[in-house]
Amino acid sequence: MSQITLRRLRQNAHIRALTREVRPHPEQFIQPLFVVEGLPGRETIPGLTGVYRDTPDSLLRQIESDLKAGCSKFLLFGVPMGRALKDIDWSFTAGQVAAIRKRFGADVWLSVDVCLCSSTPHGHCGVLNPEGDHLDNAASVKELAAAASAYAAAGADCVAPSDMMDGRIGAIREALAAAGLHRTLLMSYAAKFHSNFYGPFRVAADSAPKAGSAAAGLSNRASYQIDPARAGDALLCVERDVAEGADILMVKPGMPYLDLLADLSRQFAQPWAVYEVSGEYAGIELLAEQGLANRIGAHVEAWTAFVRAGASMIISYGARDAREWLAS
Ligand code: PBG
Repeated sequence: MSQITLRRLRQNAHIRALTREVRPHPEQFIQPLFVVEGLPGRETIPGLTGVYRDTPDSLLRQIESDLKAGCSKFLLFGVPMGRALKDIDWSFTAGQVAAIRKRFGADVWLSVDVCLCSSTPHGHCGVLNPEGDHLDNAASVKELAAAASAYAAAGADCVAPSDMMDGRIGAIREALAAAGLHRTLLMSYAAKFHSNFYGPFRVAADSAPKAGSAAAGLSNRASYQIDPARAGDALLCVERDVAEGADILMVKPGMPYLDLLADLSRQFAQPWAVYEVSGEYAGIELLAEQGLANRIGAHVEAWTAFVRAGASMIISYGARDAREWLAS
């Protein structure tokens, strides 16, 4: 009698390679970049080995070395100095976009994060109402559309709003059209959850919600980001953002939300990005530092799960190492 023997197909590296259904490829990766106004020199970020808060100069050197390492796709976060609302001014980040475009031309694909959290004194992703007890959706969307237009006009290939205000995709699409910027891609952080895994990022982008706003229930981002226990809200956000004209959709964070990446990517034919966020990336780094995980193996395992679940692009702090790590 024949016996079912599943181990036959696992017995050596050759047959394991032949039977693999998915493999992350270096071309699928997008590297986040932070550029900070007024820094005397670039700074490291706790938990994110090999990622920096760059100055405008060190940013260009970093991109040059990334290109040599086979990494050509980026997600830029600009951190301007002026933080009072009256100073909201997108020119610092737009200037960096223009500088990158001027220096590297079409050799890089540049997406730019669009949000207010690094530009407001309170660290929230939108504009507070005059009483300071909630975020004014309409005022926020107006600012976001202005930012997106400024980045697109400066040469961004793609703008990526991460704020989670209602109606921002439609407003940005309209603003881009009004400016004649018909070719700029719009990547929506559509299924973005209210997560505890954003810690290192908030240090990097100087964007933690400030304690001063705690009294009004604004000590965190729960009033605008999706509750982790509400998959239905993610579905509604995706449906809306598709209707409003998003080209690329995203699930964020990655590993805790693989179920949604799998479900949503089967339901919507748009390309899917996954954001392996700072806390989940740093988690692997810290395990490896303690000798509790194989660093490269664990990163590649997470990336494999993203592709298996349906992501065609992976935003990861390890993007610049992907070619080397995936070959090892
Ligand atoms: C800000 C923004 C965040 C991230 C990307 N854009 C943080 C937040 O919502 O607080 C998180 C990325 C990461 O943790 O790597 N709107």
